[in-house]
Amino acid sequence: MKRILITSAIPYINGIKHLGNLVGSQLPADLFARYHRARGNEVLFLCATDEHGTPAELAAAKAGKPVEEYCADMHAVQAKIAEGFRLSFDHFGRSSSAQNKELTQYFAGCLADQGLIAEVDEQQVYSHADGRFLPDRYIEGTCPNCGYDKARGDQCENCTKQLEPTDLIEPRSAVSGSTDLEVRNTRHLYLRQSSLRQELSDWIAQKTDWPVLTTSIAKKWLNDGDGLQDRGITRDLDWGVPVRRGNAPWPGMEGKVFYVWFDAPIEYIASAREWVDAGKGDDWQRWWRTDKGAEDVRYVQFMGKDNVPFHTLSFPATILGSREPWKLVDYIKSFNYLNYDGGQFSTSQGRGIFMDQALEILPPDYWRWWLLSHAPETSDSEFTWDNFQADVNKDLADVLGNFVSRVTKFCRSKFGETVPEGGGYGPRETALIADLQNRLESYQTHMEAVEVRKSAAELRAIWALGNEYLQAAEPWAVYKTNPEEAATIIRLSLNLIGLYGQISAPFIPDAAQTLRQAMGQTDPLWPEDLNQALTRCAVGDAFNVPENLFGKITDEQRNEWSQRFSGTRP
Ligand code: MF3
Ligand code: ZN
Repeated sequence: MKRILITSAIPYINGIKHLGNLVGSQLPADLFARYHRARGNEVLFLCATDEHGTPAELAAAKAGKPVEEYCADMHAVQAKIAEGFRLSFDHFGRSSSAQNKELTQYFAGCLADQGLIAEVDEQQVYSHADGRFLPDRYIEGTCPNCGYDKARGDQCENCTKQLEPTDLIEPRSAVSGSTDLEVRNTRHLYLRQSSLRQELSDWIAQKTDWPVLTTSIAKKWLNDGDGLQDRGITRDLDWGVPVRRGNAPWPGMEGKVFYVWFDAPIEYIASAREWVDAGKGDDWQRWWRTDKGAEDVRYVQFMGKDNVPFHTLSFPATILGSREPWKLVDYIKSFNYLNYDGGQFSTSQGRGIFMDQALEILPPDYWRWWLLSHAPETSDSEFTWDNFQADVNKDLADVLGNFVSRVTKFCRSKFGETVPEGGGYGPRETALIADLQNRLESYQTHMEAVEVRKSAAELRAIWALGNEYLQAAEPWAVYKTNPEEAATIIRLSLNLIGLYGQISAPFIPDAAQTLRQAMGQTDPLWPEDLNQALTRCAVGDAFNVPENLFGKITDEQRNEWSQRFSGTRP
């Protein structure tokens, strides 16, 4: 039995995520977790909400709620939607938890003890009307380069020139519009990650099995020169983890908090502590401390490509720099972007389909199947309604659903609702089982390698084998002259349904459960021995006909939905 720690990038608290976010982290992580649990491995699958930072504060203000209340509410909303998609987290934590505060302060203390923290005096824009320092991108003004009047303090969107807030002509607060701004001195902590460059570079060089997308981004940042600059890990904000050096105050840092990107990945660890404190587990250190049992854990992270620098460089710098035996990631699976109907999914513009909306129109299995089988692994991929309708109807309704329905209904009408006896297998059956064995092995290989699309293709091929067999064996025709042979075909086909109920569960957990229940196989049991798995439905066992496993998406529905999701979310 292997032990596998799995984390998905933790979604920002402000707002509901779109399907592009889902397929880039949480959903493939869930696929992997479900697969390994099904194989009998010990899995700890963690996620959380990323709650700190200015966007959360501003979203709370917009919602007219104190930020703590806003975050608690949105956490509950995101947790419920995650359940709706059957995301099987062992714990869905919160980066604002007491556990994360303590760990974040603890790591800062370790880094300081190692001489890896520098105190730097800087100048920052303070807004009197807002009563706060403003992050660069919350200062707006006229671009000195092109004259665009909504340029941000970090960059002009119009001409793409990188800016400093002090470059802007007539700067104003993007929060309140106030021009009553002042440049003030403020002191911040910097993590001296440039001194860890060689160590990080050696570590990444060993990871020859990582996806090219992951290592190419990591190496680009390592070698470009500006990627591994020391980075500020504190901010002048109210909402966040208060700056402390372990459990001691940090003189000069009063009233400041850690930067959200410093505390967010530490929540991966804190989530395991929350899991224990919630009574769901009894030892988090055996997953996270290599001196306490985590040396034989395989740790796999899932994320979109924009998150790769933080996970290949910044977070490892925190872990390595602490000089303590914390578990480092073993494998980083990253994804490109999913586009929506000729453009990008966009949270800020409300463009695309959001997770709550998706569940309003179709059950989770439809989305899980389509998204995973089109996961943007080697390049960006695109959601279009035509493609969604065509693929879902073909794979789920025509291939899988149709097989199940033909087999169970034919059996019910000719032999009743129990598995019929028949005789021994002929060459066709032997050939089918050999094909299944090959495909199943390659399905497992792809799953182990976290090759999501290839796994989906293999599973689809396994479903198709059932249909091809039925089409060639023609039990309905055979029945007229040789009912016993027809019974053999059906007995094997019923067992195939049970098999599908086992191996499809990581992709389509609800339908897979329906199949298992229909075949009287209540417990998930991976077909380690295929021949044995294909005899689980024994002669005389009762089964049910699952009604409407997958309805087809009609043209009317497709048109209505593509219309409804063509604009921006109100
Ligand atoms: N909230 C970030 C995003 O959605 C991801 C944070 S991942 C973590 O892009 F490592 F910081 F936790
Ligand atoms: Zn400009």
